[in-house]
Amino acid sequence: MAFDPIEFRKSFSQLNEKIDGRPLIYFDSAASTLKHNEVCERINLYNKYEVANVHRGAHSLSQKGTENYEWARQKVARFIGASDDNEVIFTRGTTESINLVAATFVADQLKAGDEILISSLEHHSNIVPWQILAEKTGIQIKVVELDRGEGFSFAKFLNRLNDRTRFVSMLWYSNSLGCRLPVEKIVEECKKRDIPILIDAAQAPLTEKINLKELDCDFLCFSGHKMYGPYGIGILYGKAAHLRQMPPYQGGGSMIDRVSFAKTTFADIPQKFEAGTPNVSGAIGLGKAVEVIEALDFSGAHKHVMNLRTNLIQELKAIPGYTIYDFPSAKLAGVVSFNFQGAHPSDIGTLMDQYGIAVRAGHHCTQPLMDELGVSGTVRVSLAPYNLDQEVEEFLKVATRMGEFF
Ligand SMILES: Cc1ncc(COP(=O)(O)O)c(C=O)c1O
Repeated sequence: MAFDPIEFRKSFSQLNEKIDGRPLIYFDSAASTLKHNEVCERINLYNKYEVANVHRGAHSLSQKGTENYEWARQKVARFIGASDDNEVIFTRGTTESINLVAATFVADQLKAGDEILISSLEHHSNIVPWQILAEKTGIQIKVVELDRGEGFSFAKFLNRLNDRTRFVSMLWYSNSLGCRLPVEKIVEECKKRDIPILIDAAQAPLTEKINLKELDCDFLCFSGHKMYGPYGIGILYGKAAHLRQMPPYQGGGSMIDRVSFAKTTFADIPQKFEAGTPNVSGAIGLGKAVEVIEALDFSGAHKHVMNLRTNLIQELKAIPGYTIYDFPSAKLAGVVSFNFQGAHPSDIGTLMDQYGIAVRAGHHCTQPLMDELGVSGTVRVSLAPYNLDQEVEEFLKVATRMGEFF
């Protein structure tokens, strides 16, 4: 069925909320999307009637819980085109997934002087774990600097690669600017040189279909809360051969084969990386979120978001006083970042809130990128398929009057 934003909105009860008596206009979906009602209901059902700890339970509720938990893994594995369900590890989200790879695969394989290559667009979660590791090991971090034209330049990436580059970790879509990295070309180049690569796909699931059969990166991660799903759950995809060879990330229950004081052996993947009681309701909620996305007219939904974005940017560009940080790329996420002369981004955020419009203001966890742009922060509008033309118009009404306030 063709995508209908009005129909789709009905599945997000939060959109009926009012902020100081005004209808909520939610333009902060790059931080967290709203939760789809089917996701909320599925989690509620689990918590009300189905709770039981998974794995090893002899009773039927535990077995049912395990089935549902593994159903969610299978859902995610198919959603991303993984060839083996066991290549999907449940984590707390993108941040934990990157930390896991840093502390295991990369810590194990790289030595002082080896280089990890990232880009200037990275979220802090794809910078700080490498810095912590570099501090301990003498590994070097190299950065593909911002390109004023494209945001990310493949030519600059090639220039930064050398025979000391031993790991590449890059985002797919910039959460601050919305531009896309040419991940296919990046992965292909890494494969040619035998360099393992991690893709931070936190902003990808609503923008682009993820198909690992084509992308074929070594690791990939995302978070449930940015795709209509719950907080506290996300995934790390890793090639089975890597995951099997990696040391465990955390020790504890569930991740072992046999424990004795003399020697402990570990479970096979994925359990080896899921120490402790897992977030069962979160995983089931994520599985449901995947079903919601799969049931959508995906390209129609993205086209709708792009129309909103194009309209918003064009109108904003026509108003004096705005600087828009727009780096066009082949595809874009529904993000618009801007500043208004003489106004602090957080003051604009507070002003917008008075009109019921939820935007984000600040560095968006990309301080090095803000440094390269020469600003302390920006105002970020992030659009999702449940947003409407009328909401963009309401936003533009306030944006047009910005000069009256500052
Ligand atoms: C591109 C990108 N990477 C990583 C993250 C971190 O995600 P989480 O906080 O869910 O771990 C985010 C969150 O905004 C993001 O946008």
